[in-house]
Amino acid sequence: MLDFTLMPKPQLEEKKRELEDAYRVFEGKHLKLNMARGKPGVEQLALSGQMLNELNSSSSFLASTGDDCRNYGLPDGLPEMRRLFAQMMDVDAGHVIVGGNSSLNMMFDTVSCGMTHGFAGCEPWGRQEHLKFLCPSPGYDRHFAVTQYFGFDLITVPMTSNGPDMDIVEKYVQDPSVKGIWCVPKYQNPMGITFSDETVRRFARLKPAAKDFRIFWDNAYCVHDLTDTPDQLLSLWNECEKAGSQEMVFYFASTSKITFPGAGVSAMAAADGNLSDIRKHYFYQTIGPDKLNQLRHISFLKDLKGVKAQMAKHREIIAPKFRAVLSKLDSELSGKNVGKWTKPKGGYFISVDVMPGCAKRVVSLCGKAGVKLTGAGATYPYGVDPQDSNIRIAPTYPPVNELNQAMSLFCVCVQLAAAEKLLKK
Ligand SMILES: Cc1ncc(COP(=O)(O)O)c(C=O)c1O
Repeated sequence: MLDFTLMPKPQLEEKKRELEDAYRVFEGKHLKLNMARGKPGVEQLALSGQMLNELNSSSSFLASTGDDCRNYGLPDGLPEMRRLFAQMMDVDAGHVIVGGNSSLNMMFDTVSCGMTHGFAGCEPWGRQEHLKFLCPSPGYDRHFAVTQYFGFDLITVPMTSNGPDMDIVEKYVQDPSVKGIWCVPKYQNPMGITFSDETVRRFARLKPAAKDFRIFWDNAYCVHDLTDTPDQLLSLWNECEKAGSQEMVFYFASTSKITFPGAGVSAMAAADGNLSDIRKHYFYQTIGPDKLNQLRHISFLKDLKGVKAQMAKHREIIAPKFRAVLSKLDSELSGKNVGKWTKPKGGYFISVDVMPGCAKRVVSLCGKAGVKLTGAGATYPYGVDPQDSNIRIAPTYPPVNELNQAMSLFCVCVQLAAAEKLLKK
């Protein structure tokens, strides 16, 4: 009998004792491992080392327009960088603004612009009451935190294997105080799923009650494939053009996980009305972005083909790490009815749903034995997972041997927490 939920009580008690013994062995190892960090490992960072040599004092520093990148100018960014981001985000290059080192920063600024100046000529969000923002969950904690910081009520929308539950989204947007939704449409953080064509079409056809409702389409993992059969995301830009709903969307992406997180290049895109609101905002905020970094990136990556070649190298490094995590989950937990997990074809995370009511216990058990995980609840608004079930695993940073050890402990803890819970019933 493998299934914990069907085990007779004496067998489950015996199983629990075995798991406690296994746990004590791990405690004795004094591990100090971390599976919480959704960031590239050092080997991945080394892939872009050469980029730092792309510019030196004898470089020309000229953009294709003839502008000197050492000086002010080109507030929307280098045309070649705008073109590259347009291809990555599947939008029109004329509607791209290249920003600084972080797309999250651009998202923050966009919400801030909505708060102080509003969109589409509407009253600024900050002067309206009972603001709400939709948060597909599990999702990215920092998205949720931005809108929490600005005072929005965060509304949880369940994620499905096709994207956010669109029946629920369509219902919520009938409320005029709902002002937006966070989306990571490809290899979503943390589930790793890609929104289906139907989900993208339903987003394009949304008819929100609020004229200033905006979709924040954060394509952070647009080129981050891990297999030969990558997911394909339908272009929301094209679907919105067909539906006449272009003004409903802000698009974002960055090179954070292509070159250097914190020292990459970010970009956003939007249709004419939104773009003019945002350009106004940036006009007062800055005289221009860091074009030397853009030049360095273009000179290193060149074009979409170059980006894909770089991503293939990332894949070589991180695909084995994803395989290591998944193979532990499969071999240790399959058939036991103690949890389920995603098998993403790209992105940075594996999402595990342990037995409801057990996530905090698993994270705490792992922590006490020396393995740090993302906090239970972090993937939900306000850091509270109503089921206490979801745990985000980040396989990219630790080396494979550390992942193997950490995952062995994790699997013991998932089973131990489940046995404890079942025996308490
Ligand atoms: C979905 C998502 N968006 C944005 C970011 C941060 O991007 P940036 O470094 O461009 O601010 C992350 C980082 O983990 C992320 O997972």
